[in-house]
Amino acid sequence: MTYEGVARAMAASRRPTSAAIRARKGSRFAVITAYDAPFARCAEDAGIDVLLVGDSLGMVVLGYEATTPVDLEDMCRHAAAVARGSSRAHIIVDMPFGSYEATDADAVRSAVRLVRAGATAVKLEGGAAVSPRIAAIACAGIPVVAHIGVLPQTAAIGAGYRRKSDRLALLADARAVAAAGAFAVVLEMVEPDVAGEITRALEIPTIGIGAGNACDAQVLVLHDVLGLYAYAPPFAKRYAELGTIATDALRAYANDVRDGAFPCAQAPSGDAPIYAIGEPRA
Ligand code: KIV
Repeated sequence: MTYEGVARAMAASRRPTSAAIRARKGSRFAVITAYDAPFARCAEDAGIDVLLVGDSLGMVVLGYEATTPVDLEDMCRHAAAVARGSSRAHIIVDMPFGSYEATDADAVRSAVRLVRAGATAVKLEGGAAVSPRIAAIACAGIPVVAHIGVLPQTAAIGAGYRRKSDRLALLADARAVAAAGAFAVVLEMVEPDVAGEITRALEIPTIGIGAGNACDAQVLVLHDVLGLYAYAPPFAKRYAELGTIATDALRAYANDVRDGAFPCAQAPSGDAPIYAIGEPRA
């Protein structure tokens, strides 16, 4: 593609840029996790234009007990699915455990792979200690979101899942990641007053999860919101019970097969393909 072609393609992209999201500082917006094409489409249709391919993937989709087994291949595969299923959303993708800790070069290489898979930004866990990694990725031209407070990748082997309230340490971490070039920061399970103070102190948006109401944005895990995950944290709000709906539907299907009610005696006519790419079937 020519330079003009690339410039035209970028101008035609309907995904908000990191600069546009940074400019939302002070206005409240919702972020939701997504791991596959159908739910990425649902989120976009609901008007949510910032999706996070979180490494919570490990628990809510892949059946692990923690995020640590999730690797770069997993994140690339699910980032690509979310990118295929959406066209108007910014896609933040988590850098998984082990993909950025050792060196700046590792961090940049991993971030490049995630961008090639479909990420429009990457997210990594840690405060002042990881700010050199944030700076290296940002210097490579890749937008970065930071994540401070409870850090799930190391919580089970380190500081634990208890709410964070060390005001000075949290403020120092928040300032360090912003200075390193992060365009937004996730505050996970940060004591709400401290989250409010950080939000007022920073020029970049804060995205809270279990951190109270004063953050610029909120993020929740899709499966917690939809009632698809049994171990949702207490701060998550359940907006639907899709797990129950799915079980009931599958029970009805199994009963129909057992009773001979499905398939019906008269098979539907027509020769439409079973799976068609493109327009969703009615
Ligand atoms: O992995 C994830 O879903 C996250 C959110 C909980 C912020 O990092």
